[in-house]
Amino acid sequence: MKFFLDTANLDEIRQGMSFGVIDGITTNPTLVAKEKKPFREHIIEICNIVKTGEVSAEVVSTDTAYILREAREIATWHPNVIVKIPTIPDGVRALSILSKENIRVNMTLVFSAPQALIVAKAGAYFVSPFLGRLDDIASDGLTLLREIMDIYEAYGYPTQVLAASLRHPLHVVAAARMGAHIGTMPYKVFEMLFKHPLTDRGLEGFLKDWEKARETLGDVFQSAASANPKR
Ligand code: E4P
Repeated sequence: MKFFLDTANLDEIRQGMSFGVIDGITTNPTLVAKEKKPFREHIIEICNIVKTGEVSAEVVSTDTAYILREAREIATWHPNVIVKIPTIPDGVRALSILSKENIRVNMTLVFSAPQALIVAKAGAYFVSPFLGRLDDIASDGLTLLREIMDIYEAYGYPTQVLAASLRHPLHVVAAARMGAHIGTMPYKVFEMLFKHPLTDRGLEGFLKDWEKARETLGDVFQSAASANPKR
């Protein structure tokens, strides 16, 4: 499973990249607007930080002709930019045209299996079902993901399933078990994936015991320990 961070914040992106397990970035107009930087330059800067990873940048028009204009422009910004388009009728029309031009499109704001089926037929590169936002209205985001995985597997559609709006580690685990190609998550959810109170407590115990017996253990790690302010 690929991990994408769902953020336009450069500090979070740099921090995430330092772990060596982040494969790309998704942004949306809300996330980009928060950063208050020129859109094009900001997306290019993100691309340069994530190097080979794919970066989704979203159009803000809602009419096919204008979506096409924005999408073609965004696609020129960097070889790893993926154009994100909302799954509205005008967006689907634009997708059908762009996919024939080999422009890679992430179809976003997907909330139903029929929407996912349509965008696969129209040649989407990614489909982004929003799990958390369905859960928010007492619907089941994971059921939608299961339906999409089943349909895509049944027909062998090449569209990659990008599980989006992931709100907690259980969403990530469930999406991984279903074989979703990608999970995109806020930085705080990514951190939750590897932080565990028992790991912290266990390590604290190990280090205390080591410290108590230090004199008998030799000084093989002495230099490393003194260089680590936490020890
Ligand atoms: C994905 O591409 C979206 O930007 C994102 O996952 C939306 O998540 P939210 O529902 O937490 O805003």
